[in-house]
Amino acid sequence: MESTKQLSLRDSRDRRLPLISPPCGLVIFGITGDLARKKLVPALYDLANRGLLHPAFALTGFARRDWDTGDFEDFIEKSVKENARTEWNESTWKQFSSGLRFVAGSFDDEDAFDQLAQTVKELDENRGTGGNHAFYLSIPPNSFSTVVGQLARSGLNDDRGNAQFRRIIIEKPFGHDLESAQDLAKTLQEVFAEEDTFRIDHYLGKETVQNILAMRFANIMFEPLWNSRYVDHVQITMAEDVGIGSRAGYYDGVGAARDVIQNHLLQLMALTAMEEPVTFNPDDVRVEKEKVLSAVRLPEDLSTTTATGQYSAGWQGGEYVRSFLEEDNIDPDSKTETFAAMTLYVDTRRWAGVPFYLRTGKRLGKRVTEIAVVFKRAAHTPFDHESTQELGNNALVIRVQPDEGMTIRFGSKVPGTEMRVRDVTMDFAYGHAFTEDSPQAYERLLLDAISGQSPLFPAQREVELSWQILDPVLRYWEEQGSPEPYRPGTWGPKSADDMLTKSGRTWRIP
Ligand code: BG6
Repeated sequence: MESTKQLSLRDSRDRRLPLISPPCGLVIFGITGDLARKKLVPALYDLANRGLLHPAFALTGFARRDWDTGDFEDFIEKSVKENARTEWNESTWKQFSSGLRFVAGSFDDEDAFDQLAQTVKELDENRGTGGNHAFYLSIPPNSFSTVVGQLARSGLNDDRGNAQFRRIIIEKPFGHDLESAQDLAKTLQEVFAEEDTFRIDHYLGKETVQNILAMRFANIMFEPLWNSRYVDHVQITMAEDVGIGSRAGYYDGVGAARDVIQNHLLQLMALTAMEEPVTFNPDDVRVEKEKVLSAVRLPEDLSTTTATGQYSAGWQGGEYVRSFLEEDNIDPDSKTETFAAMTLYVDTRRWAGVPFYLRTGKRLGKRVTEIAVVFKRAAHTPFDHESTQELGNNALVIRVQPDEGMTIRFGSKVPGTEMRVRDVTMDFAYGHAFTEDSPQAYERLLLDAISGQSPLFPAQREVELSWQILDPVLRYWEEQGSPEPYRPGTWGPKSADDMLTKSGRTWRIP
């Protein structure tokens, strides 16, 4: 008889095989939105171009447009030509476009959903989608329950006792606090099983984010240092140089912490801090991430350990940009933060006393996402103070984007007769080490969702634990009133710098 360990090893080996989707259909609600146009549709085409979609794959758009199939095809073709990563290929397009369908209607229109059910049936009969369908909600969360209710009413969630699959794929925000996240989960759970619910956190689809696990657990040299004995602190930054653009409707009242920390940054932190999972199977990875999230502790005094900011008007990159409050459709009295930073602790033996500093913001110095593990200084060196004046802390920086890779910072002797030690860096860049381009996050996530692979999707419990961490901070900020203004192109408000200088540390300028 095979032992459990042997079985799990075999499972993880199977997961290395390139996936090819099963025959299936995908229905996108919100197909005319930015996300679908710029990311989802091009990612599907790229998958088809890479030979990873079953030839029977069919994409159905659902939207309130007076379109026929021809109009829809034109829209998809334009979106692919403008945004796909891989080259235009006539034969891929021929196969892909033959599976395009469009259903016009609003979310409360029962006839439109009946027509959608008809379309799905027709695809099963004529295209061979085999009764397997996934429904992607790229729509405002306040429409989730209407759409999910309609899917149930028209029988579109019926998987014939598991003989076929019917899945739901949702985009954040998963609620705006713990309570609303639980309400949302209840709405979904009435219609779809948890294992058929795929929550997208597109950061988890990024190659560099998956590489955190490869780097930590496939090597010997990092893990022995990965603990409070050697790590001084960890900085996780997700910075953007752009403002909110045309997303006022979504962003105002949501803010940087709900938009980015609740999901992307807490997931990055969980992957950085978690213990080695038994295998890379979804349940094993999830258990370890959940342990980290449930061990997170906020500092007692949030006034000195968190910071919020809102960008003001000013010059950035040679251009005068308006303030957040002057952006189209933003309430001129809005207290929404466009910058958020916080200190978190992970109360485990591995991480006792090590602060994790998380920060994110719009209109910052540049677009960059990185995880910097900053090590303690050597307890003793045989060099005098003069020799090591230019030596900082050793650090390992995982560059999630844009220059995907990793940098190690350490001290080295400066050439010459004196013994002077200065910081130098050693670099690994994806672009140099590998010839093939990294696929886009949505390629990986869409393929995994329609193939039923779920290690890269946060479970409901992770969503709830993340809100549990954030809710007290959000309540505290709300009591404090307006966030502190910061100039565009800088690294956020002064309070964010103070947060670190108080403990003798500084933020990295990435
Ligand atoms: C989204 C946020 O989740 O991530 C946006 O809602 C943000 O506000 C975006 O701009 C950034 O994604 P990426 O992949 O460009 O870092």
